Formats: sequence, C-alpha cells, structure tokens
Amino acid sequence: MDQEDDILDKTVAEIQKAILNDARKIYSEKVIDHFLHPRNLGTMEDADAFAKVTGPCGDTMYIFLRVKGEKIVEARFMTDGCASTIACGSAITELAKKKMINEALNITELDLTDALEGLPESSIHCSVLATRTLREAIGDYRSSEEAKRVAKGYDT
Ligand code: FES
Repeated sequence: MDQEDDILDKTVAEIQKAILNDARKIYSEKVIDHFLHPRNLGTMEDADAFAKVTGPCGDTMYIFLRVKGEKIVEARFMTDGCASTIACGSAITELAKKKMINEALNITELDLTDALEGLPESSIHCSVLATRTLREAIGDYRSSEEAKRVAKGYDT
C-alpha cells in the first residue's frame, strides 16, 4: 500500500508539474503565484462596502471592503471564475489595501495587468471584471456614507 501511495504521489506531482509548465507558456509567474496563493480570498463580516459583478463570460466576482477614515484597511474577494480571475481578485485587493478611497477608485485595468506582469489577450476581461467590481464596491461605500449623512441630517 505504501508503494502504491508513493507511485500515486509521484504521478500527481508529475501531472501538477506538466500543468504548471503549460500555464507558464501563457501566464506570467506573478499570475501563477496569485492563482496558487491567492491573497485576501474570502468573505468579510460587517463589511463597510460590498459589490457583486458578473462579467460577460458569466463569471462573478465579489469584493468586500473595510474602510476607516476613508482608508481601505481590509479588502477581500471571492469568485467562481478562472485562474486569471482569481489572480486578478488577489492582485486588485492587494492594490486597494491601505489606499484612500479616492486613490483606489483610480486603479485602472492597466495598473492591474502591470501588477500581474501582463495578462494574455483572452484574460483581459478578467482584469476588467476585477476593476469594475472594486469600483462598484467603492460606489457602495459612498452610497452608504451618503445615506448615513442624510439620516444624520434628519436626526438633528
Ligand atoms: Fe471570465 Fe476570467 S474567464 S472573468
């Protein structure tokens, strides 16, 4: 049984290596790293802002933000998308963290692809999805802040 397990482990390792070698022909090392070790993956309880956007390919991205004094102190994402969508979610939450809301709003698709050291043409829409989801989460934050201001106005 030990020998069978050993053969199985070696076979799995060879398959993983072959898949990674194929991925390296298409994706940068940065994309592969963010895909294999996604940063900020998961949901967030009591988030200050949230957005869910579905792209034209049918994949969906969710972004959650925690904001303190207009600064994004925490950003998390979830997606049911492909490898490059996971990499984009990981990289865009890294780019957004520690930025002021106004700065994060200026993160472009190009900033994201630069952070990932490029994306193949067929994956550009994944960066558009991630950027749009971040912008909508920021829009959600602004709307709820505006609602709080209005509610406060009515209280006084
Ligand atoms: Fe649909 Fe990446 S393939 S967002």
